Amino acid sequence: MGASGNIGSKITKNLLDKGEKVRVLGRSKERLQRFIDRGADALIGDAFESSFLTNAFWDSKAIYGMTPRDNTVNNLRACDNKIGESIANAIQVSGVKHIVNLSSLSAYRPDKTGPVKGLYDQEQRLNKLKDINIIHLRPAYFMDNFLRYIDMIKNKGVIATAFKGDIKFPMVFTKDIADEATGHLLKLDFSGKVVKELRGERDLSFNEATSIIGERIGKPNLKYVQLSYEDAEKGLTAAGMSTDVSRLMLELIKSTNEGIIGRHSPRTKDNITPTSFEEFADQFVKVYMQSTN
Ligand SMILES: NC(=O)c1ccc[n+]([C@@H]2O[C@H](COP(=O)([O-])OP(=O)(O)OC[C@H]3O[C@@H](n4cnc5c(N)ncnc54)[C@H](OP(=O)(O)O)[C@@H]3O)[C@@H](O)[C@H]2O)c1
Repeated sequence: MGASGNIGSKITKNLLDKGEKVRVLGRSKERLQRFIDRGADALIGDAFESSFLTNAFWDSKAIYGMTPRDNTVNNLRACDNKIGESIANAIQVSGVKHIVNLSSLSAYRPDKTGPVKGLYDQEQRLNKLKDINIIHLRPAYFMDNFLRYIDMIKNKGVIATAFKGDIKFPMVFTKDIADEATGHLLKLDFSGKVVKELRGERDLSFNEATSIIGERIGKPNLKYVQLSYEDAEKGLTAAGMSTDVSRLMLELIKSTNEGIIGRHSPRTKDNITPTSFEEFADQFVKVYMQSTN
């Protein structure tokens, strides 16, 4: 699932590079064409339709499942639950036995996690499926989210969000998530219902991340500015998010600022991922230089 997306596209590339037979799903053939050209079987359809997914999952050895997020809907949790039911039903009917499910670091708790609440619901739903092996990957905040600030850096000369500048929390590069998912899809090395956190290389604050990016792009004085919750929410709705999704994003940020989420479990050798923010920043620069705004 999500083969044209951030993580799904990297998993697909990994699997094709290994010579695996891959079926890619999405709503647009065009967005999957690069994989079709490499021999992937593409099925075009909507994940809200369980019959489409059942057909797609049929005879698969394993699937990568994810909940696509629609930032424009009026009730995100209800929307996520609808797609979650469609996925769970298709898993059950198709008979596929191994699922790598993309979740989120904070999906261990049902509340105060904003947009992650739907992912909590999906973990609970999938855990009820009998005789099916599922690994829930729980990644931290994506480093790649910083790519969204390129226009802001170019137009306003700052990075500004409602996160506290000095609070450190885990951030992970999506390539590392994709590599982890690929490994489990190939090895099928999980049974029953298990969870794996992906906490990145180290915890980082927005102040630190902004300074690393500033150095890399030749703006060593690039500043991080903490917005008020009200201004941040207005900014999110102005950028096209629904009122509900903006409110949920702010809930997640508040919980991070207050230390309610992000620090519930320790860093161990099993949940650390290799790519540092400095290495991510090398990728960031390339996109920054190519962006025309
Ligand atoms: N951002 C973070 O910091 C963070 C942290 C932890 C977890 N997460 C979770 O990560 C997930 C997002 O992963 P990602 O960034 O890899 O995804 P993404 O880049 O947003 O891609 C979404 C994918 O889903 C497909 N899609 C969207 N709507 C669909 C539909 N109705 N039917 C079928 N396919 C559909 C899209 O393909 P087409 O448009 O081509 O159909 C696309 O391939 C979300 O569940 C999010 O909550 C995010």
